[in-house]
Amino acid sequence: MENQKTNVQIEVKKNGPLRVIAEKMEIDVQGEKIMKESAVSFCRCGKSQKQPFCDGSHKEAEPFE
Ligand code: FES
Repeated sequence: MENQKTNVQIEVKKNGPLRVIAEKMEIDVQGEKIMKESAVSFCRCGKSQKQPFCDGSHKEAEPFE
């Protein structure tokens, strides 16, 4: 889509999830820049009840890299 630019960051948290953060810059009809951010965390420990997403259960899991 024209007038859009998206930056994506992927972070691997020690003893935690893989976090994907997307920042999107849009330009509205008045020409103003609008930044929007969204993020999702994917489970790496295997303990989440909401696979493939992290539900915080890693806090109770054994440490992992
Ligand atoms: S990494 Fe968070 S529940 Fe598995």
